[in-house]
Amino acid sequence: MSQHEVLIVDDEASVLDALAQGLQLEGWRCETFERPVALLAKLSRNFTGVVLSDLNMPDMDGLSLLQAVKSIDADIPVILLTGYGDVSIAVQAMQLGAYSFIEKPVNHAELLKVLAQAQEQRRLCLQNRLLSEQLKQSRHGRLQLIGDSPAINQMRSMLDLMLDAPADVLIEGETGSGKELVARYLHDNSARSDHNFVAINCGAIPEQLIESELFGTEACAYTGADKKRIGKFEFANGGTLFLDEIESTPLSVQVRLLRVLEERKVTPLGANHSIALNIRVIAASKTDLEQLSQQGSFRLDLYYRLNLLKVAIAPLRQRLSDIPLLFKHFAIIAASRYHKPYVPLDQPALAILQAHSWPGNVRELRNLAERYVLLGAEAAFIQQGLSLPDTVGSAMGLAERVAFFEQMLIEDALSATKGSIKHTMTALNLPRKTLYDKMRKYGLNRDNFTDDDLSD
Ligand SMILES: Nc1ncnc2c1ncn2[C@@H]1O[C@H](COP(=O)(O)OP(=O)(O)OP(=O)(O)O)[C@@H](O)[C@H]1O
Ligand SMILES: [Mg+2]
Repeated sequence: MSQHEVLIVDDEASVLDALAQGLQLEGWRCETFERPVALLAKLSRNFTGVVLSDLNMPDMDGLSLLQAVKSIDADIPVILLTGYGDVSIAVQAMQLGAYSFIEKPVNHAELLKVLAQAQEQRRLCLQNRLLSEQLKQSRHGRLQLIGDSPAINQMRSMLDLMLDAPADVLIEGETGSGKELVARYLHDNSARSDHNFVAINCGAIPEQLIESELFGTEACAYTGADKKRIGKFEFANGGTLFLDEIESTPLSVQVRLLRVLEERKVTPLGANHSIALNIRVIAASKTDLEQLSQQGSFRLDLYYRLNLLKVAIAPLRQRLSDIPLLFKHFAIIAASRYHKPYVPLDQPALAILQAHSWPGNVRELRNLAERYVLLGAEAAFIQQGLSLPDTVGSAMGLAERVAFFEQMLIEDALSATKGSIKHTMTALNLPRKTLYDKMRKYGLNRDNFTDDDLSD
């Protein structure tokens, strides 16, 4: 099918026919209208082509049509056909956002050239929209803080209160429990999200380099520094600095860190001026910092400075009800990444996962879910040191798979329509009662799909 598409409106049928015939010969898909309202009815934000309109028409002139098109989608290119002497109106049309105008009698070659340019612009515009939509979704995907256990719900409400509080945050949680995810959640949902989120692993930078990493260096500040280097603090300015594994920061650096956190400015090594900082610091620790500082291996004053707002992430073994949700979430992502079917785990297998202690927390569960998708249940469980109850694996018959698929489609429609029953009925072409019956069957509640609830 042709990629070139034009909707043409003109009140004179003979003009319409001539235009359409000429364009069709050049491979354009044309639809003609004698009345603007009929053309408008064909447009939406997904319209892939171009509009060509006469300027003078009895029931709606070209300028009004132009404005109506722009209110449907400001990026649909509209080309106007103007009569002799319409120059001032043509100028007005350009100001209102017309793509171009062409004087009658129409020069065919010129028309083709302008149409092709407009078509290309439309194509690029839709492509950009699609990409930015995908980007937004993948950002959103990365940010999903899955879980519906009391512990996670409580933490989520706490985080929402902290989003724009003018204070630094300390996150404590075992390995793989989601510290970095929580830090990103705080950043991405805050007013700072347009600026950088800069993560530093305080345990991984060699002690000699940590200051230049954090504070930056002026050129020639010391031997070897032949280039100016922007420190991470400065790079995070306006945004969030994530100090990961803060517990591993060498004591000597802790002193300087504390000073920066208090003064809110940094002086790059070798520089004689300081840079004012507007950053939020989020620190993360795997161990209890208070205990560490009482033992003398972490500065107590730095601990107090960081501890204003504290988030303690519960280990996964203390929120067992999140396990099925998290498993499903990671398995679906893995299935789509590896182009594999996703078969849900049955109840006995989930029970085994809930009985496991998960020392590696959510990361460990994510790895298991990926292996499950790639290798199947049995191999994945064996690698995890778990054994599978006999019923799992081949047990899923056609009916269960169909039911599962149906459930997924309904869930997708509900989340796409933010829990609207009416729109879900339309999207799936289901009568209300059938939809309700199926939702009851699968335990789906529309409230779980309303507004920006980030849970599954
Ligand atoms: N509640 C959650 N919902 C969705 N994904 C999660 C959740 N918690 C953790 N994850 C995922 O689990 C993995 C580990 O999380 P993250 O890296 O944030 O943990 P961490 O506490 O920083 O780990 P470490 O202590 O090893 O640095 C990531 O892929 C993260 O996206
Ligand atoms: Mg981490």
